[in-house]
Amino acid sequence: MSETLLSVGDLRVHFPLRRAMPFAPRRTVRAVDGVSFDVAPGTTFGIVGESGSGKTTIALAVMRLTDITGGRVALGGDELSALHGERLRAARKRVQMIFQDPYSSLNPRMRAGAIVEEPMQLMGLEDDAGRKARARELFTQVGLREDQLQLFPHQFSGGQRQRIGIARALATKPELVVCDEPVSALDVAIQAQILNLLTELQRQYGLTYLFISHDLGVVQYLCDEIAVMYLGRIVEQATREALFENPLHPYTWALLSAVPRLGRRRRGAASRIRLEGDPPSPINPPAGCRFSTRCPFAEARCRSEEPPLREVHAGHRIACHLVGEGGAVPHRPGLD
Ligand SMILES: Nc1ncnc2c1ncn2[C@@H]1O[C@H](COP(=O)(O)OP(=O)(O)OP(=O)(O)O)[C@@H](O)[C@H]1O
Ligand code: SF4
Ligand SMILES: [Mg+2]
Repeated sequence: MSETLLSVGDLRVHFPLRRAMPFAPRRTVRAVDGVSFDVAPGTTFGIVGESGSGKTTIALAVMRLTDITGGRVALGGDELSALHGERLRAARKRVQMIFQDPYSSLNPRMRAGAIVEEPMQLMGLEDDAGRKARARELFTQVGLREDQLQLFPHQFSGGQRQRIGIARALATKPELVVCDEPVSALDVAIQAQILNLLTELQRQYGLTYLFISHDLGVVQYLCDEIAVMYLGRIVEQATREALFENPLHPYTWALLSAVPRLGRRRRGAASRIRLEGDPPSPINPPAGCRFSTRCPFAEARCRSEEPPLREVHAGHRIACHLVGEGGAVPHRPGLD
């Protein structure tokens, strides 16, 4: 990749748990456990995976809203993970977040206009008149009316509230917007409107999105490049075309086979994989390949040797012992 805006390197976020009893061993949730990826400016990088795979934790780490156990997060050459005090505050205006739930993420006691102005106020941007003017401009850009600036969040619909959330996120003119499941709490018809708005704003302002979703349809619509996460690690990463036309990881096959309308032209085995049960606990991830307890192809070495994430085609990374050089997937009798 020639240019990089966001660079995440070997990121680890572990949460120590309280001991159940005074002398019990301390347990740790390995929510994110060695994740690396780069995002080019003006593009949308998607992260998909089941509940609990670590998607939100990556978002929070990029936003510096959770402590990082190891690794680094850099924005346009500035290492966010090493900044403190005033320099961190200055960097913060370059990265903003859109949250999943437009009902709980807006302060119910503040008027919509004040909600949009608040990030500018916190970061000391513009004077009062400047902030008000910017809030009016943003409201129009996200498809709301100026007279609605005076209303409280409960006076808006879910889709309108998410528009307020988007206006608020754009208030500081960020370069990177982290979107954590921004449409999953909305009706399908409203989802399309919000996704179109995000696409339009990206085109207009050259925004870069880190877009988190468990919905592969949404990701296929919006993302240029996609990382598939399983238990705190990336198991496959590719461009949208490569991921949907030629998915290589058994876990990606399973995710795609759960959505029949997607990836019809994908390779044979993909259509037959069913994911059974829940993922194992990130407190004690399985030895070897973390997917080995649910993978229909698991062999002895999968249970002892962790497959490294390696590039098999330009830009297509995969962590699976099964996949050969150049992305060759062996024929599995009964599955093709
Ligand atoms: N503060 C915390 N303390 C302990 N464990 C945590 C904490 N935050 C998250 N976790 C755990 O880390 C793992 C990853 O959580 P995370 O919220 O990042 O998943 P997710 O992929 O966003 O899931 P979802 O799709 O449900 O939003 C989960 O096992 C979760 O229980
Ligand atoms: S490494 Fe083994 S267990 Fe893991 S996904 Fe590949 S075949 Fe399945
Ligand atoms: Mg989440």
